[in-house]
Amino acid sequence: MTDPVRYSVQDGIAVIAVDNPPVNALSQAVRAGLAEAVARLSGDDQARAGVIYGAGRTFIAGADIREFGKPMAEPFLPDVIAAIEACEKPVVAALHGTALGGGLEVALGCHARVALASAKVGLPEVTLGILPGAGGTQRLPRIAGAAAALDLITSGRHVAAVEALKLGIVDAVVDGDDPLAAGLAHARRLADGEATGRRSGEIDPGAKDEALFADWRAKTKKSARGQISPMVAIDAIEAAYDLPFNEGMARERELFKELMASDQRAGLIHAFFAERAVAKIPEAEAASPREVASIGVIGGGTMGSGIAVAALNAGLPVTLVERDEASVERARGIVSKLLDDGVRRGKLSEARRDQILSRDFSTATDYSALAETDLVIEAVFEDMDVKKDVFRRLDGIAKAGAILATNTSYLDVNEIAAATSRPQDVIGFHFFSPAHVMRLLEVVVADKTAADVVATGFALAKKLRKVAVRAGVCDGFIGNRLLNTYRKAADYMVEDGASPYQIDAALVAFGFPMGPFAVSDLAGLDIAWAGRKRRAATRDPRERTVGIADRICERGWFGQKTGRGYYLYEPGARRGSPDPEVEAIIAAEREAKGIVPRSFTDEEIVSRYMAAMINEAAKIVEEGIALRPLDVDVTMLAGYGFPRWRGGPMQYADRLGLDTVLAELRRLSAEDGFFWEPAPLLVRLADEGQTFASLNERD
Ligand code: 3HC
Ligand code: NAI
Repeated sequence: MTDPVRYSVQDGIAVIAVDNPPVNALSQAVRAGLAEAVARLSGDDQARAGVIYGAGRTFIAGADIREFGKPMAEPFLPDVIAAIEACEKPVVAALHGTALGGGLEVALGCHARVALASAKVGLPEVTLGILPGAGGTQRLPRIAGAAAALDLITSGRHVAAVEALKLGIVDAVVDGDDPLAAGLAHARRLADGEATGRRSGEIDPGAKDEALFADWRAKTKKSARGQISPMVAIDAIEAAYDLPFNEGMARERELFKELMASDQRAGLIHAFFAERAVAKIPEAEAASPREVASIGVIGGGTMGSGIAVAALNAGLPVTLVERDEASVERARGIVSKLLDDGVRRGKLSEARRDQILSRDFSTATDYSALAETDLVIEAVFEDMDVKKDVFRRLDGIAKAGAILATNTSYLDVNEIAAATSRPQDVIGFHFFSPAHVMRLLEVVVADKTAADVVATGFALAKKLRKVAVRAGVCDGFIGNRLLNTYRKAADYMVEDGASPYQIDAALVAFGFPMGPFAVSDLAGLDIAWAGRKRRAATRDPRERTVGIADRICERGWFGQKTGRGYYLYEPGARRGSPDPEVEAIIAAEREAKGIVPRSFTDEEIVSRYMAAMINEAAKIVEEGIALRPLDVDVTMLAGYGFPRWRGGPMQYADRLGLDTVLAELRRLSAEDGFFWEPAPLLVRLADEGQTFASLNERD
């Protein structure tokens, strides 16, 4: 193993190389190595100045997150940085790749910073449920001012080198790809007195702008929605103005430790690693992805158009096939509009949009246009006969080795694959609406899907900047199967006495961006209605059914698109108001069943909703539909608005304690029957005193 920190001297300048792949995280060994290197620089007669840089693809990307939650080992990062800052010889940080979190804090402790133009800096700690804990909240405002510090630290956003220069975070931006050369040149200038360095801890931060802090507190309270770290980070930044530097550092440390001990930190770190672990699937180890240089999309409605834009934005040419010329024109209109939105939001240049429309995007009504395409994604109506017909036609024209994917939400991918002569090439790619925005892609693996086709799904997701989760075939795969289950729990509560509006409010307070009834209105109540009709014949006769949604649909109220659903919508409005007529429908349904409504507390609502979700998730894991509990967590986080700081339903269950969840399910199944019967996996884990997390490790 190479030394994680190497010291050498080049022409009178000490070169301190941090070499801890993959991202040079500040493990205990790196911290110790840095402390030793700085001490050596101080006493080294051969060195007039020093440069700290990262070997490999990046500067230091932060503290070693794997050490979080364990006792911290010396030397502590703030002390290492204090030693760098105190060094009497100038020390330059030479940045490339990403200088994040503790990495940027090391750089802020240096006396000057140079960055390659491609470098990015940031303090993303709040996204992990903590705050910069090695002086970032004290040094950044001194260097860049309160407004920049508040912005960077509460958002965690990555800032490109040019903006960092404008903000005063770096002293120079250099073209090229050699951070060490840039650092050495700057160190020489400092040593020769041609440039000056500063100790950021010694800079006077100036007077506190009270109004600015009040404004950020109000803004952050809204945007953070239940997440505590951004608010606490503001307290820490404020200490830079209220206290002398050393006391501010102590205050930061105290707040950092508080957050480090929080459940939210545990949830967010779990989310971070889970999003990376989902890519670790057997097929990716067994096979390499197939080459995908062109995409075909069949059906250019809501989903097909969004999928086309996601692929076009990633630089892949797309051919979209629709039923007839009028449908082609409609699809072209949607694609153009989505690209225009991208231009308006600054995500896409006008020139790039024009190039996409004139060169990369083509349309057709004839399937033969897809004969040479590497990967075709079908997004036609959710109807088995229509889908089978599409796949039969595709089978007739697609080249050998082309991947044939379906975007079905619920239908049996095995049955669709059987309509072709090449089931090994057929797979489900379940995108989420809007497909060019939502991060989740469920990669649905059918019985005969080849391993390299699965691996291609994961490679494509990466290219589209999405998170792929591997799912098996069942009604609704991972996400929609869960959705159907917790929606039923919500419907039962409505029938028993809660209002849809109270349920939505309770779940928004829990951390979801929208409650389940508002989501139904957005998605369209007709879609779930069609699903209920489809499943009616195969439904378990023991299942409790609620007729309220059917009564609403029978009136033609399908949600936002018809101006009313569970809520009433003013024309064009996205937020609705409670509808007394819906409340009357609910009352009539209760009366017809002889149910005397009772009241529910918000805690009861959350508890039942989560118990239903966790129980179904346990079945999904046990059946192998999800590989591990973490795959369920990522599905819910990336596709269904589950509050990230709660880590996902399985992580949430672990924190509640599986015995607590089991006791709630047993109580509910005694009261309300079969729907609540605990999943065998949950019973086993609870009996063994185990957690879902114990199943996340694969050998
Ligand atoms: N600690 C430990 N491991 C880390 C890590 C970190 N800070 N950052 C990344 N890794 C690991 C990943 O888990 C992954 O491991 P795997 O290959 O075993 O799955 C590997 O490094 C590569 O990471 P990515 O797949 O994410 O690589 P990318 O090139 O896509 O992204 C990155 C690189 C932008 C650096 C991204 O990994 C990232 O955002 N990392 C986290 C950065 C961060 O949040 N830093 C702040 C940490 S908190 C802190 O510093 C506290 C301080 O204030 C005291
Ligand atoms: P949509 O009704 O908006 O679009 C379907 C399109 O397919 C229409 O434009 C239609 O003209 C076209 N089409 C129908 N038959 C065709 C054929 N034989 N050849 C070519 N084009 C044909 O439907 P939407 O919402 O886009 O859904 C498409 C698929 O995506 C469905 O399977 C649905 O379950 C799934 N899905 C939908 C989501 C949503 O939120 N709307 C989310 C995830 C998946």
